[in-house]
Amino acid sequence: MSRTFSILKPDATRRNLTGKINAVIEEAGLRIVAQKRVKLSTAQAEAFYGVHKERPFFGELVGQMTAEPVVVQVLEADDAVPKYREVMGATNPEQADEGTIRKLFALSIGENSVHGSDSDENAAIEIAQFFTDAEIVG
Ligand code: CMP
Repeated sequence: MSRTFSILKPDATRRNLTGKINAVIEEAGLRIVAQKRVKLSTAQAEAFYGVHKERPFFGELVGQMTAEPVVVQVLEADDAVPKYREVMGATNPEQADEGTIRKLFALSIGENSVHGSDSDENAAIEIAQFFTDAEIVG
């Protein structure tokens, strides 16, 4: 078993898609072992997306991620990181495969409904930014 970190982004919470996206996650065999709804501060979003700080879309990304609540999650499965990336689909929803969360729900590359960790190492870092060990119940 391994874990990944997930965010249901503001475009998803705004459109009341939390349950529908969780259904896709669970039907794919990922278990939601921690979950909470939070409003990110600018400092939290800037720290979380620190690797993108030189990218032209950084300001817009931080603005969108802090505008409305998000749902942060820890997901567990065998090979959780690649499994969730497959379930999410491509970052750009125009390139996402049929049946993926981003194909089903995303509005654009910026408002792409979900985030998922890109490696086991980053999953551990991202999980620790939002959850204590005691909050994760497998
Ligand atoms: P996410 O997986 O959360 O990681 C970084 C986010 O930046 C990405 O999803 C997109 O929502 C957002 N983003 C906005 N514009 C771009 C872009 N041109 N290329 C990649 N990511 C972008």
